[in-house]
Amino acid sequence: RKVLVLNGPNLGRLGMREPEVYGSTTHQELAERCTEAGSRLGLDVEVRQTDHEGELVGWLHEAADAGWPVVLNAAAWTHYSIAVRDAAAQLPAPLIEVHISNVHKREPFRQHSVLSDIARGVILGLGVDGYLLALRWLADHVADNAG
Ligand code: DQA
Repeated sequence: RKVLVLNGPNLGRLGMREPEVYGSTTHQELAERCTEAGSRLGLDVEVRQTDHEGELVGWLHEAADAGWPVVLNAAAWTHYSIAVRDAAAQLPAPLIEVHISNVHKREPFRQHSVLSDIARGVILGLGVDGYLLALRWLADHVADNAG
């Protein structure tokens, strides 16, 4: 079963970017950990990252049309992009929102997500392991024939 892992702006700079907040794992390593965990779990995981909002919106449309579950770290767009929310709201399969950092320990502008109320669940503050936990949940809860 196919699952998309979608990462928003600045996440391509993981490993270099504020390592005290986001850790030392690079986006490439994150992508490898997700695809490896996916194959152990029987999931065909594809990881994509973009700094362009319209590109993320297009990927969400693709997932909506294909019926793929999505693990989404929309990064800064989480906090204000109604366009990303409206695209994510079209997904027929579960959406899991992931954040590497515990946004509730951080600045007030990170405390609100425009995605959380349409997500099946939210995982935050557990570093890049949060993506693997999301994949484990999808493997356990989403039927093989559901898209
Ligand atoms: C983030 C948290 C966001 O507030 C921030 O803009 C990011 C990353 C996280 O994974 O902790 O870019 O989504």
